[in-house]
Amino acid sequence: MAGQGGSIGDSGGATRPLRVAVLGAGTVGREVVAGLLEGRSPGLAPESGAFELVGVAARDLVRAAASGIPAHLLTDAPAHLVAGATDVVVELMGGEEPARTLIAAALTAGKAVVTANKYVVARHGPELEAIARLTRAPFRYEAAVMGGTPILRLLSEDLAGTTVSSLRGIVNGTTNHILTEMAANGVGYADALADAQASGYAEADPTGDVEGGDAADKLVVLARLAFGVWLDRAGIAVHRRGDRPGITGVTAGDLARANRDGLAIRLLASARRRASDGRLEAAVLTTAVPEASALGQTNGVRNRIEIEAERLGRLAVEGPGAGGAATAAAVLADLLAVRRGDGSTWGDLPAAALETAASLLPKARSFFVGPSGVKYPVED
Ligand code: HSE
Repeated sequence: MAGQGGSIGDSGGATRPLRVAVLGAGTVGREVVAGLLEGRSPGLAPESGAFELVGVAARDLVRAAASGIPAHLLTDAPAHLVAGATDVVVELMGGEEPARTLIAAALTAGKAVVTANKYVVARHGPELEAIARLTRAPFRYEAAVMGGTPILRLLSEDLAGTTVSSLRGIVNGTTNHILTEMAANGVGYADALADAQASGYAEADPTGDVEGGDAADKLVVLARLAFGVWLDRAGIAVHRRGDRPGITGVTAGDLARANRDGLAIRLLASARRRASDGRLEAAVLTTAVPEASALGQTNGVRNRIEIEAERLGRLAVEGPGAGGAATAAAVLADLLAVRRGDGSTWGDLPAAALETAASLLPKARSFFVGPSGVKYPVED
C-alpha cells in the first residue's frame, strides 16, 4: 500500500481501509464526502471497512462545515493531505491549478488519484498518464465525462474488442439544460443559465460551458479512450458564428423557428477517424437535429453519446451529465475500482501518442437558418 512500502497499483484485496483525502468541498466534493460517510452503496458501507475518509480540503472552511462536513476532517491545506498518510487522493477542486500540481504530486508518490477534472485531464493527460504508468499509481477520471453516466470504462474495456470509427453527442449538461428550458418552457437565456448554476450543473465560471470549451475538454478525454490518442486540446475546433461561440449566439427566436420546423438545437461534440488517411477529425458544433431523434429527445441535464464501432455498429449511452449527486456516483465507483485493484481508466490500452485533430466539418446536407441569421448544420 502507498505509505506502507508497497503500491496500491500492484494489487487489490487490501485488508485495511484505504485512506481517502478529498480535495474540494464544492458541489461534487460534498456529495462524495456524504457518500463515503453514509456508505451509499454496499461496497461503501462503514462495515465493509473499505475506506477511511482522513481529510477534506476546502477553500472556505466555515461554509464547508455548514454544509455538514465534520469539522475535524476539514483543512485549507490540500498539499498537506496529498503529502500525508493517504492512499487515495480525490481531486474535485476543478480548474487548472493547484489541481494539476496536486494530482501530479499524488501520482508521483504512488498514490491513487480519482478526479472529475476534465479541464486538467484534457490539457495535461499525457504527462499525468506517463507519471501514473511510471509509478503504477491508479489514475481514474470516469466522472470527467457525462457526470454520473458510465462512458469511459465502456470505451477502454467493454469496446476493447472492436475499433471505434466515430462518436458524437451531447456532453455538457449546462448547455443542454439551457437549450431545453428556452425551447420547451420559454425561459430566457440568463434565467436558464442561472437555473443551471443553482442546480449545480455549471462550472464556477460558466464561460467554458456556454462557449463549448467544456465540451471540447470532454472530447479530448473521450478520444483518448475511443481512439487511443491524446488530442492537442488547442487543436479542437469550437465552431463560432461571428463572435458567438458555443450556444451564446442561439436566440429564443431560433429555437422557436427550429421547433416549428421539427428540429431541436443541440451542442454536439464529435470526433471521427477519416477513412482516407486515418487522421482524427474533431469539433464542437451547435447543430440542428430532428426533434424526434434520440439526440433531439435528450433533454435537460441529460447527456447522450452515440458511438460507431467497426463490426459492432452503433450504440449509445445516455444519462445524467452533471450535478453533484450524479457525478459523485461516478467518483465513488472509481474509488471502488481502486479498491478492487482495477488500475487506471485506460485499463489495458497502450500508452497514447499525441495528435492534432483536423477540424471536423459538418456532414450536413442542409442548414437551418434562424431569425437571428445564425446558420446551423442539420444532422440526422
Ligand atoms: N459543467 C459541466 C456540465 C459539469 O454542465 O456538463 C459536468 O461535467
